[in-house]
Amino acid sequence: GRVAVFMGGNSAEREVSLNSGEAVLSALQSAGVDAHGIDVQGCLLSTVESPEFDRVFIALHGRGGEDGTIQAILQQAGIPYTGSEVLASALAMDKLRTKYVFEGCGLRTPAFRAMKSADEADDIVAKLGTPLSVKPAHEGSSIGIRKVRSVSELVEAYETAAAMDDLVLVEQWIEGPEFTVSLLQDKALPAIGLSTDHDFYDYDAKYLADDTRYRIPCGLSVEKELQLQQLALDAFRVVGCRTWGRVDIMQDAQGEFWLLEVNTVPGMTDHSLVPMAAKAAGISFQELVVRILEDTLV
Ligand code: DAL
Ligand code: MG
Repeated sequence: GRVAVFMGGNSAEREVSLNSGEAVLSALQSAGVDAHGIDVQGCLLSTVESPEFDRVFIALHGRGGEDGTIQAILQQAGIPYTGSEVLASALAMDKLRTKYVFEGCGLRTPAFRAMKSADEADDIVAKLGTPLSVKPAHEGSSIGIRKVRSVSELVEAYETAAAMDDLVLVEQWIEGPEFTVSLLQDKALPAIGLSTDHDFYDYDAKYLADDTRYRIPCGLSVEKELQLQQLALDAFRVVGCRTWGRVDIMQDAQGEFWLLEVNTVPGMTDHSLVPMAAKAAGISFQELVVRILEDTLV
């Protein structure tokens, strides 16, 4: 049947999503799938009332596409779609509540607070120390994330994040290195180690810089990588995700792992990590998208 690739949308990650969507679309077409791109702008209800497609590949990142809303509309319309269902999508989009779940399940995640006003800056620095990471709770691609080293920097970063989101998360900074583990058909792919000359793996390091270094094999011992992959699978499971995704994890100087977040529609651009991990496992980009599509729900 016909497959719609949903892409674009209205989130802050629109440009990334258009790149992911175009890559997915052309790979599906090369695989002989009758696939068509749809830039999802505005109301979807009329589109799904008389759909001209039988399945949807969701390549939307961020709010309105990755967060359970599109998934709920498709589910209600009885149209199978790729990736996680409503609850896991909504939960994973909320970095704060994802951390409550990690903590509740005994999975290590950096100490954190929800920050409600700039007045809390002194108290947060006194409790959590510095450096800290300040994040809008519902963004992706590191948009709005800042590393802060003082109360005044925290106030400034809070204002930036609060302008984008009604929920701001502050967490203890783990120096890294950063690792990411991609999941495909509920199994872990080889981990990737990330290094950058930026403060962290930010938007520019993700999509623009050519000096970002990706290590695959990731440089850990076999035993340590297995532990990392198991942690990613545990994170994926407790959030309730299915099929595919990517879990971002820091390692501290003592070698311990700290969970940051789960991504239910990770980037699929030519700079992206899931395709890189798949390739290392001998899975081409085309095979990757076909496998993700095969796992759609009914
Ligand atoms: N939010 C971006 C697309 C990612 O996680 O890859
Ligand atoms: Mg994310």
